[in-house]
Amino acid sequence: MWKPVGSVVLCLCSLILFMPFPAFISSTLHCPFPGLGSRICSNIKNGYLNYGFTSVSRHLISREVDKLNSKQSLMSLHLKADRYIKGRAKEEFTFAASSAPFNNCHASTIVEVGEDHFLVAYFGGTSEGAPDVKIWLQRYQDGKWDVPVVVDEQPDVPMWNPVLFKLPSNEILLFYKIGQDFQRWSGCLKRSYDNGLTWGDREQLPPGILGPIKNKPILLRNGIMVCGTSIESWNSWGSWVEVTADCGRTWKKYGPIYIENETLSVIQPVPYQTSTGTLRLLMRSFDGIGKVCISESLDDGVNWSYAKPTELPNPNSGIDGVKLRDGRLLLAYNTDSRGILKVAMSHDDGDSWDEVLTLEETPGMEFSYPAVIQASNGLVHITYTYDRTQIKVTMVHCRYQILFRCVYNYYH
Ligand SMILES: *[C@@H]1O[C@H](CO)[C@@H](O)[C@H](O)[C@H]1NC(C)=O
Ligand SMILES: *[C@@H]1O[C@H](CO)[C@@H](O)[C@H](O)[C@H]1NC(C)=O
Repeated sequence: MWKPVGSVVLCLCSLILFMPFPAFISSTLHCPFPGLGSRICSNIKNGYLNYGFTSVSRHLISREVDKLNSKQSLMSLHLKADRYIKGRAKEEFTFAASSAPFNNCHASTIVEVGEDHFLVAYFGGTSEGAPDVKIWLQRYQDGKWDVPVVVDEQPDVPMWNPVLFKLPSNEILLFYKIGQDFQRWSGCLKRSYDNGLTWGDREQLPPGILGPIKNKPILLRNGIMVCGTSIESWNSWGSWVEVTADCGRTWKKYGPIYIENETLSVIQPVPYQTSTGTLRLLMRSFDGIGKVCISESLDDGVNWSYAKPTELPNPNSGIDGVKLRDGRLLLAYNTDSRGILKVAMSHDDGDSWDEVLTLEETPGMEFSYPAVIQASNGLVHITYTYDRTQIKVTMVHCRYQILFRCVYNYYH
């Protein structure tokens, strides 16, 4: 009588390595998914299928796996589904510990200005809100970080939350806030036309316009720049959207965007455009709400729905994300506390999420205020505050990567 005596777990690569033991592997030495074609099959290495999938080919794979499982009783193939991120390509600090001319830094922002050429800005000084806090800038070029330089300072008045953004004309915008505290700050802007080597004079934004409050804006196809902003005033927290059609010279402001019947609700929006063309915001929420919140506009940002909680946790801490060029949405966020920083991915513009990567996990330390961009080579760059003393940069591969494990029940 045929009796199963055990099982062996093999990676797909092992399929080939185990050629001398054909009894284990019956007739499936070829790619198990002929339906996917040889181009995809030839990308299976070391048990990983690493290929630039779209969500369409992801469904195709699931279908192929189902077909295979129903056809071949001897073999079960486990698709560790939805391992969307390969992992970190690189991580480093923008400057070595204790080497900067400030003790404390926070709220970084990053922009790509050329091939493998980036600018990172943040605020730094004695401590957040201290009168000596300035806006600092660092350049990454030729594989190394230049030392921090001051872009703007104001005697006895702290500066806050810089946001870098590059326009298609190559003009670079640097938004930031100046004021004694975040209830009284005002929005400012500097421009650079030479990749951040020199900056123009400080421009004060119009009254009530704060500019992007923490996260980068998005540029719509019609040239309108959409900035997510927010107000943290006495017993009143909510978000707004500020839009400009002339690169920050004139503005309109829409909102408030908040949780129905909540006075203290959502701030620091991450704006993005969905595949159907609507605009959405993901937002940090006040203590006790506990979730990243979402709001949608069906009319290019004029009217917004009430903010609603998503499934993602939020301990009243800044988030940032990016709509990847393949249509997926990536978000960096803290979970229980600022000691845990994770990355989640959504295939449906933020309706549902999968946690895909833990960037940091050390209770008692602070890894906060991520800033996320997708560089032109596809790599995702995430900068964040490292325990308020340094800025860390992590690069993440975000090509679809699906891990296969073949489990063979073999008989004798
Ligand atoms: C908000 O408050 C109004 C008035 O009290 C009430 O009718 C409504 O149901 C509340 N909405 C929610 C979502 O709690
Ligand atoms: C926004 O909503 C208001 C009231 O519901 C409506 O009158 C207005 O037309 C809407 N704006 C746009 C641009 O659709």
